[in-house]
Amino acid sequence: MAMMLPNSIAVICAAPEKIRSKDTHYPYKQNTSLTYLCGFPEAESVMVIMPDRDHGEFVLFCRDKDPLRETWDGYREGPEGAVKNFAADDAFPIDDIDDILLGMLEGKDRVYYAIGKEVEFDRKLMDWVNNVRTLRDGDAMPPGEFVDLDHLVNEMRLIKTAGEIKLMRRASQIAAQAHCRAMQLSQPGFYEYQLQAEIEHEFMARGASAPAYTSIVGGGKNGCILHYIENRDQLKAGDLVLIDAGCEYKNYASDITRTFPVNGKFTPPQAAIYDIVLEAQLEAIKLIGPGLEYNLANEATIRVITEGLVELNILHGEVDALIAEGAYREFYMHSAGHWLGMDVHDVGDYKIDNKWRVYEPGMVLTVEPGIYISPDNKNVDAKWRGIAVRIEDDILVTKTGCEDLTSGVPKTRDQIELLMAG
Ligand code: GLY
Ligand code: MN
Ligand code: MN
Repeated sequence: MAMMLPNSIAVICAAPEKIRSKDTHYPYKQNTSLTYLCGFPEAESVMVIMPDRDHGEFVLFCRDKDPLRETWDGYREGPEGAVKNFAADDAFPIDDIDDILLGMLEGKDRVYYAIGKEVEFDRKLMDWVNNVRTLRDGDAMPPGEFVDLDHLVNEMRLIKTAGEIKLMRRASQIAAQAHCRAMQLSQPGFYEYQLQAEIEHEFMARGASAPAYTSIVGGGKNGCILHYIENRDQLKAGDLVLIDAGCEYKNYASDITRTFPVNGKFTPPQAAIYDIVLEAQLEAIKLIGPGLEYNLANEATIRVITEGLVELNILHGEVDALIAEGAYREFYMHSAGHWLGMDVHDVGDYKIDNKWRVYEPGMVLTVEPGIYISPDNKNVDAKWRGIAVRIEDDILVTKTGCEDLTSGVPKTRDQIELLMAG
């Protein structure tokens, strides 16, 4: 509210429900910005913010209580619950929004709104704005200006509060424990989906609400597919398995990748690739702290990986020239990470005025370099083909540097082999 210009209104709509098949739905996922601003979990709701309004600054429209619908589909707060449990100053049934919102829009100069995110709601909002003119025999004035609300909310979401950090710490710990479980239970003959089941068992048993994204469990060359989610193949002795899985805990995501040998022992070629990726990740993490530029960590991963691939004779040439021409992209085709929060690829700009932004305490990001050597790459020695390694941790920027929130799962080869042997 403090960031809104005077005489403005902000409108935030709930995410729509999505059909999975005929009359069954995907698990409902609320619009994360609405969750951030007020926590209201239900579909068919709209949050309205009107700074300095005498009759209440925060109004929620939501579904009315309905014993029959609640018997079938689950509990509803109703307007009374919206006031009592979500600190709304006032709340109304969503069916009345056409009438009530017009009056709220009337006379306002501007509307803050996440423009273009929900096409159907865009249209409704335009109708409401246009219909303001019908009030008071055509004398009423609609707002003349739309401002992107995300611009304000995303910057707030980028810097996590102490309360948010506590939840992210828990989401990270749960995911770390899940990865440990997968390492301990892995054995040749297991199917990828069985490790997925072990990981997700741990998520749910420890109170997470869901995986934060579809878990990736890729044995052997399947690890070369960055977002491999089939998870159908059998795991073989002598192969690595790459697991990229994180959970959602009280609306906050974690995002961890570990790569380990199916049978608990790295082969020499796997070890060589693994150690480059680990060094790249550790060097990148050293470059995260307040005042440091966002992209330094990414550049460090590119340098360490290029140097390592030259050393192994996988890339040939002079390191600076190879970096300049992007030769590493054949083996490392994504960037070093992303913001993390309520969304796994969280909101927040990476650049300001076209310059990389600088870290501030409270930001959380992933660091996840990888090397992926295609099984079909005829330009490299056969021993490297099909090896894929990614290592990903969740890093909190602190006042003095940074903290690895996901350090609970081992990542040096010795530590991994030790855990797997135990
Ligand atoms: N699991 C998606 C990512 O690591 O960004
Ligand atoms: Mn990931
Ligand atoms: Mn990630």
